[in-house]
Amino acid sequence: MAITRQLFGNLSDGREADLFRLTNSSGMLVDVANYGGTITSIKVPDRNGKLDDVVLGYRTIEDYVQNPRYLGCVVGRHANRLANGKFSLNGTQYRLAQNNGPNHLHGGTKGFDKKLWSAALVTGDDPANLQLNYISEDGEEGYPGELNVTVSYSLSNANELRIDYRAITDRDTIVNLTNHSYFNLAGSGDILSHELTLNAGAFTPVTKLLIPTGEIRSVANTPFDFREPTMIGSRILEPDEQLAFTGGYDHNFVLNDWNNELRWCAIVKDSSSGRVMEVSTTAPGLQFYSGNFLDGTLVGRAGKPYEKHAGLCLETQHFPDTPNHPNFPSTILRAGQEYVHSTVFRFSVVR
Ligand code: GLA
Repeated sequence: MAITRQLFGNLSDGREADLFRLTNSSGMLVDVANYGGTITSIKVPDRNGKLDDVVLGYRTIEDYVQNPRYLGCVVGRHANRLANGKFSLNGTQYRLAQNNGPNHLHGGTKGFDKKLWSAALVTGDDPANLQLNYISEDGEEGYPGELNVTVSYSLSNANELRIDYRAITDRDTIVNLTNHSYFNLAGSGDILSHELTLNAGAFTPVTKLLIPTGEIRSVANTPFDFREPTMIGSRILEPDEQLAFTGGYDHNFVLNDWNNELRWCAIVKDSSSGRVMEVSTTAPGLQFYSGNFLDGTLVGRAGKPYEKHAGLCLETQHFPDTPNHPNFPSTILRAGQEYVHSTVFRFSVVR
């Protein structure tokens, strides 16, 4: 069996949340909860074959119901921030929940991370595949249109975790979906000594409130240049206005040569364990977030607090606040069209 299902726990209204475990022939395993479509665990071997969890996670369903830092979940309907919780579409202005200061963040007060998804399809072949479905009603969190969303998780025997997102709407709306896993390839400690390479020649600078200014800025001669493998911690404390606004990296990178096809966007390497993760995506952007808001108040599954930089997120997506920036690739989904987005996380080791 390459996929199993067990009870994760009961929500406060009595509904049952399940935990699905995908395993492959190399011993890799991925746990996904249908609460929030959340990846709660990814265990991969290090260079000596030792399995460790390479994503941050909690022990219980109650922790995931709180989950203020969005560990592992699907974020939507529109990932990241929308300035002042507003956007206009077809001449109508829509107001969304302002759940991050004046801004709308990660879908609002009850985004897709706080929904119980239904398991639409479960297959145990190579790849093991789980499909979760959620129907977001017209007007939910202020968004127009009933959105029917399917997120599929597949684990191959080649240690690839693939996430495919699909959505259709009955009225024009905006959609930007991603997964918010925090990776730590060492399985503990912080990610500052991880080496990162990004396929991005530009990034989108932000204001103090973390809203893109609209500028597309070259990474050349900035601490945002990850075109060659670079240790994350090597420049994170440099005096730079952008790093100061966000307390570390929390920026959208503009991926090179975006054409809607799967192509590499990031490579992360941890020399202590030998683990490597290569990320490919069909999306035009990648939010690289170095876990700056983790401050020791969240206690992880090993009973240890997650301190600043305990994990890093690589959120493949359209750019934050896109509806308010006509120069960014559009996140409008028209009635009758299909939103499709894929991301692959491939794990391997170096000796
Ligand atoms: C995203 C944002 C961050 C932060 C985290 C959640 O990655 O870019 O600013 O809000 O989510 O804590």
